[in-house]
Amino acid sequence: MRNFTTVADIGDLKKAVEEAMAVKADRFAYQHLGRNKTLMMIFFNSSLRTRLSTQKAAMNLGMNTIVLDVNQGAWKLETERGVIMDGDKPEHLLEAIPVMGCYCDVIGVRSFARFESKADDYNELILNQFIKYSGRPVFSMEAATRHPLQSFADLITIEEYKTKERPKVVLTWAPHPKALPQAVPNSFAEWMRAADVEFVIANPEGYDLAPEFVGDTKVYHDQDEALRGADFVYAKNWSAYADPNYGKVLSTDRSWTVTAEKMALTDNAYFMHCLPVRRNMIVSDDVIESPRSLVIPEAANREISAEVVLKRILESL
Ligand code: CP
Repeated sequence: MRNFTTVADIGDLKKAVEEAMAVKADRFAYQHLGRNKTLMMIFFNSSLRTRLSTQKAAMNLGMNTIVLDVNQGAWKLETERGVIMDGDKPEHLLEAIPVMGCYCDVIGVRSFARFESKADDYNELILNQFIKYSGRPVFSMEAATRHPLQSFADLITIEEYKTKERPKVVLTWAPHPKALPQAVPNSFAEWMRAADVEFVIANPEGYDLAPEFVGDTKVYHDQDEALRGADFVYAKNWSAYADPNYGKVLSTDRSWTVTAEKMALTDNAYFMHCLPVRRNMIVSDDVIESPRSLVIPEAANREISAEVVLKRILESL
């Protein structure tokens, strides 16, 4: 595997989950792969889990790691070609990217949607420039439209906890005070559609995700109806996708918060969220603290999903 940005890059999901289980059982078994290899992790946005779990995965594989927070200590980067650079950005991404590539063997990039241009966001302007100009394998640590390391960890978690051959998995929108990207729900939908689960989405009117991510998934605008019989409830906020409201908050309706009453509609479902989560906006304290909450196992599996991805990239060098 050269680059990892979507579910298509991982291939057969059954094999990927089996590989994840093998890595989890012996996470230091592949140390030889990373010897004298350097991972550079580049963050345009904040992170707790991705930063720590990916660095830990690289260390498990024997790699050296360099972490660069672009907005803290590096030169401010211009990202648009053709701009007269007489403002506050002294370096262009088109020089910075190949320079970064000189110092490492593999690059991870975190670059969220900026909500300035839907076309730039959905064309993955930043991530694709790293793929084009770095000369190195590149993997997404959450880009504008997808968060595949998170979705892979979520799939591993569902496989570990499912008690039915084909569980019902509900992705539900939940309220949040600020505009969040669609990357996590887009990606979760993409991975669940490729997995062997019954997958449905619940969101208020005006919050339908991009058609290429929804596909033929059933979308409910009544959360209670969607939750009936669920085995896994995956809560997440996202801002509106459709024009003219792209990137806007249209509702903070707390009747969509995942509470114990909502979970009672399910088939004793597990609760999932990628974190960080705003308690009592997205989910009530009692639900996230309950024994059916999987938020910590999901976060723990971020180390495993990152290790499988890095292992495959190292094997291809
Ligand atoms: N879930 C996730 O990606 O967490 P961070 O934003 O903290 O990395």
